Amino acid sequence: MSPPGKPRATTYRYNEKPVYTTSNGAPVKNPSTWQRVGPSGPLLLQDFHLIDQLAHFDRERIPERVVHAKGAGAYGEFEVTHDISDITTINMLLGVGKKTSLVTRFSTVGGEKGSADTARDPRGFAIKFYTQEGNWDWVFNNTPIFFLRDPVNFPIFIHTQKRNPQTNLKDATMFWDYLSTHQESIHQVMHLFSDRGTPYSYRHMNGYSGHTYKWIKPDGSFVYTQIHLKTDQGNKTFTNEQATKMAAENPDWSTQDLFDAIERREFPSWTVYVQTLTPAEAEKFKWNVFDLTKVWPQKDVPLRPFGKLTLNRNAENYFAEMEQAAFSPSHMIPGVEPSADPVLQARLFSYPDTHRHRLGVNYQQIPVNSPLHSFNPFQRDGAMAVNGNYGANPNYPSTSRPLTYKPEARGHETWAGEVVNDLFGEVKPEDYEQASGLWEVLGRTKGQQANFINNVAGHLSGARQDVRRRTYEMFSRVNKELGQAITAETEKIVHGNAELASKL
Ligand code: NDP
Ligand code: HEM
Repeated sequence: MSPPGKPRATTYRYNEKPVYTTSNGAPVKNPSTWQRVGPSGPLLLQDFHLIDQLAHFDRERIPERVVHAKGAGAYGEFEVTHDISDITTINMLLGVGKKTSLVTRFSTVGGEKGSADTARDPRGFAIKFYTQEGNWDWVFNNTPIFFLRDPVNFPIFIHTQKRNPQTNLKDATMFWDYLSTHQESIHQVMHLFSDRGTPYSYRHMNGYSGHTYKWIKPDGSFVYTQIHLKTDQGNKTFTNEQATKMAAENPDWSTQDLFDAIERREFPSWTVYVQTLTPAEAEKFKWNVFDLTKVWPQKDVPLRPFGKLTLNRNAENYFAEMEQAAFSPSHMIPGVEPSADPVLQARLFSYPDTHRHRLGVNYQQIPVNSPLHSFNPFQRDGAMAVNGNYGANPNYPSTSRPLTYKPEARGHETWAGEVVNDLFGEVKPEDYEQASGLWEVLGRTKGQQANFINNVAGHLSGARQDVRRRTYEMFSRVNKELGQAITAETEKIVHGNAELASKL
């Protein structure tokens, strides 16, 4: 059997000479000739080969991902390294030494498909595990938190990080206007403008679930969890200047770095940890465990190691295996459930929705997305039903052909309350606390705080004056000296630029 994710072989060995044919399999005399009238007359519409080639070419592009359009990935495996059977019933995680195949895709967020890999941006860290009980997707980022905790803001937030509708340019005013008027984003802004906002490559960064999930325990109760993947290659970053230089010299740097390392058999790996809180602990916890802008401090909730993820095989065809890969936080397996985090709840809808738009209703039949075992004969037809469409099997729960239904373990949870239409949380003084904590973490490594100020000032200097002022106030709430330093550095650049412009 071919390994998971691998499409039907269409690649031939170099010493084979396959017969060239049309798309319907008929041999063609010469791919470069067209039927025409006489040596220089008009072309004939009856030439299927020519028309078919052009028509297929005309349809080569599918919509790029609306976010995370630029990316690269590889296949690998996950191995359980520690016994965690006391906190989980997820089959894939039971048994030290147990291995599961997987595919990953790393990405930047805001840029288009051809944009530079070294852009200052969070990085996507998506994994699809091909488990015996279905595909389990971890659709994570390289930051432990996110810009928002209220999902309704996601489309407008993304608009401000993309292009101005009139100029079609990236726009520093839009960028900071949103962030300074939605200051719950400050913690993520601190991550983004530290040097970890420009990782050296995909191999040298961590991955985080960010969201809280629920893991069902053997006794039917559950624990809240957060997952961390720490790079075994060591965290390594570019400075702003190095990242900008690399964007010009090799915009595909991270893509190439990952591919070449795997070809050299330098297989990158990550150590995987879990943080857990019982529902009772979560009730009493200082932070709302459904607030995506907050971490769980590691001294309060220690990291527990349980696995190792290693990448060891490149894709043979980028489009088939990476562009068509479809990850979703809603692709879960028995033993794991979403928490009530509203951003996670919204994502459960958004990803399969975009896959149906980007890849079609049968996106799960594309080899890279196909589970090891699946049997759902009640989903029939639709564009590109290429899995045999369940043949003559009944397309409803028929008494003539009974199926086996397995009971699901559910973590007991009760919710009751009034329907409200409010913000998930007003911005409060405690929203700056973990941002201040990160400012202190940056202070542990020489030069990191100075780089942070430089990274913000360079970008913020392009924004309108009132937006700059509001942003200075935002940073002052994290740390007074930080606010002052950013004000001074940014205004120096603004006035330097103005002086330069007046001399031209
Ligand atoms: P700890 O001192 O226990 O942990 C600090 C964490 O910060 C480590 O996970 C470390 O990751 C990470 N870190 C180190 N340098 C940087 C950097 N330049 N940029 C981003 N992260 C870095 O502290 P707490 O758990 O109390 O957290 C303090 C602050 O650290 C938080 O406010 C948060 O911003 C940040 N942080 C916290 C994480 C968490 O889950 N608690 C995870 C990541 C960051 P590594 O070991 O890989 O270097
Ligand atoms: C990609 C929506 C928040 C991680 C995407 C895509 C959409 C989307 C539509 C494109 C998917 C595709 O075309 O295949 C949203 C919405 C969010 C949100 C609506 C919040 C309301 C987040 C968060 C994380 C995240 C918080 C990380 C914790 C990713 C990753 C990808 C992605 C890694 C790329 C997956 C791949 O490589 O194919 N998101 N997202 N997103 N998102 Fe989100």
